[in-house]
Amino acid sequence: MADTIDAYSIQNWLESCPQSYLENTEYGHAAGEKEPDFFLQNEVLLEETIKATVQLVVGERCALSASSGLINAAPDEASRRFLATQTLDEARHVEVFTQRLYDLGVRKKDLEGTIQRYANPNLVKFAEVLLEKIDRKDFISGVVGQNIVLEGMAFSVFEMMYAMNESVNPKFAHTLSGTIADERRHVGFGENRIGSLIREHPEKRGEVEQMQKEMSYFMLATFADAFRNNRTVDELEAAGIERPHSQYQGVDLGVMAPEDMEQVLADTVLKEFKTRLGRIGIEYQTPTRP
Ligand SMILES: [Fe+2]
Ligand SMILES: [Fe+2]
Repeated sequence: MADTIDAYSIQNWLESCPQSYLENTEYGHAAGEKEPDFFLQNEVLLEETIKATVQLVVGERCALSASSGLINAAPDEASRRFLATQTLDEARHVEVFTQRLYDLGVRKKDLEGTIQRYANPNLVKFAEVLLEKIDRKDFISGVVGQNIVLEGMAFSVFEMMYAMNESVNPKFAHTLSGTIADERRHVGFGENRIGSLIREHPEKRGEVEQMQKEMSYFMLATFADAFRNNRTVDELEAAGIERPHSQYQGVDLGVMAPEDMEQVLADTVLKEFKTRLGRIGIEYQTPTRP
């Protein structure tokens, strides 16, 4: 990318996203790629996959509401334009993961019912904490909540899912790698734009730290529900299928118990939060462990 291109410009977005890694994709993957039959034919694995995908749709719907809401709360033109590109990214993420639900056999008329049935209540609360800041047009809290907390979480979850799916489900892995590239851009904006605003408004620190603590609590509770009530590992074992030896954060997920995977993910995300919040001058607050 040329130095002359503003990192938050629409021009930069066009060159680095639609004209780059999204070129020739459909719904985020190569044309013709399909969910593996193996998942589609096993009732338990299919339901677990639908359930996991619903959480992605819920998270991305929250990001879509948040990024679009932030446009009108932004104090400067460059941020508004960046958030317009982010809004389209998030709308695309919602669409891609919704399409995955259809690919997994959810019927269009059952979409909202399926989302309601499987949406993790703790993830819904996580979203509510953020969207309340957006409703009040609180730009600083909104950007920290979305571009650092929500997207820092999404980034790590997607990377873990990518590791687990790379060899067994290339279609899903491809949609994740495009999404990860988008999230990396969004997180970068959060850090770069908000550091100076926090310095100008030190009075906001306490409120932002409180929000981070609350959101982190609901995130950990979501992880706990997702890993502890997941039947995938048992089902694969019962079917005599070896899990792929996926490497994530230096460990082999293919031999780990779900509780240990939960721990690795939680530790990874919280460490990221600490680093990123530190860079913008916010002191990371340790949440209670659910
Ligand atoms: Fe997203
Ligand atoms: Fe995002």
